[in-house]
Amino acid sequence: MNILAIESSCDETAAAVVRDGRETVSSVVATQIDEHRLYGGVVPEIASRRHCESICGVVSEALEKAELAASDVDAIAVTYAPGLIGALLVGVNFAKGLAFSLNKPLIPVHHIRGHIAANYLAHKELEPPYMCLVVSGGHSHIVEVRGYTEFGTLGRTVDDAAGEAFDKAARAMGFPYPGGVFIDNAAKQGDPSKYKLPKPKTANPYDFSFSGLKTAVINLIHNADQKGEKLDANSLAASFQKTVCEILTEKFIAAASEKGCAKLALAGGVAANSGLRETLSAAAEKHGMELYIPPLSLCGDNAAMIGCQGYYEFLAGNLANESLNAYATMSLDAARF
Ligand code: KG4
Ligand code: ZN
Repeated sequence: MNILAIESSCDETAAAVVRDGRETVSSVVATQIDEHRLYGGVVPEIASRRHCESICGVVSEALEKAELAASDVDAIAVTYAPGLIGALLVGVNFAKGLAFSLNKPLIPVHHIRGHIAANYLAHKELEPPYMCLVVSGGHSHIVEVRGYTEFGTLGRTVDDAAGEAFDKAARAMGFPYPGGVFIDNAAKQGDPSKYKLPKPKTANPYDFSFSGLKTAVINLIHNADQKGEKLDANSLAASFQKTVCEILTEKFIAAASEKGCAKLALAGGVAANSGLRETLSAAAEKHGMELYIPPLSLCGDNAAMIGCQGYYEFLAGNLANESLNAYATMSLDAARF
């Protein structure tokens, strides 16, 4: 079964063709990041406009690379939640028009479910049940993946998401947007034990809180500025990254241990972080747990992951008709069409 998948929830216009859920036939991602970088973050109105301009070309390119005509595909999958509402609506309306005109099934896909599914494309043997740590620009979740379309959220962020914390700390350190990868690179040159940063507590031990940590970094920078002192930027990046990675790893491993689950996966844009990949791999090995990590190409937003999850939603009968809407927020475990 060939699924044409469309993703437009934030600042990447993406389309892919995925065969039988597990094989990426083609994948095209058009990023708008250079333009948003000028403003220090994603500007929703600009994102929507660029999606409108790019979507026809991106979808055509994905079909061309797959050597398929639109009429050859068996279904259309599209990200419908969560994300920037104007951005999501571009993909959803395009997919609805295509599915209606071609008389093909329309499959609505939750963006975070897509991030989790990215692991199925890279690891053919991976099957539920397992536990997944989802860390992206907008989300930090500890998820119990009970089945391909059955999820339980054990913990989530109570304030900033992990990627958001990286980006805000990076901004304070003077790096361009999105700063996660700049912190990652600077951290490689720094001493991670140089600056002591707090690990905020949460009422639910599996929830995350990153805003206090971000504020601690900002205060450190302001204090140094006021005293005319120069901070060791690489070591500050390394100390921040180490603290975030330890928080994520400790909570995730504790949740998996409590559930008696020895199969783990990592997903989302922050899964690209080299420190997190190392810290989590070492902890999983120490606890005798198996860890699946997506390749860098599947960590950030892409449509192949949407095509993969779309296949499993299709098998579960989770289809939509032309009244499908987009939603800016939606919990992972509650699907609404
Ligand atoms: O999943 P994603 O592409 O978009 C959302 O769904 O949010 O995640 C983007 C986030 C950004 O916050 C970005 O800074 C972060 O992932 N990110 C990283 C790295 N690469 C991307 N954070 C830390 N280290 C990285 N290497
Ligand atoms: Zn994402």
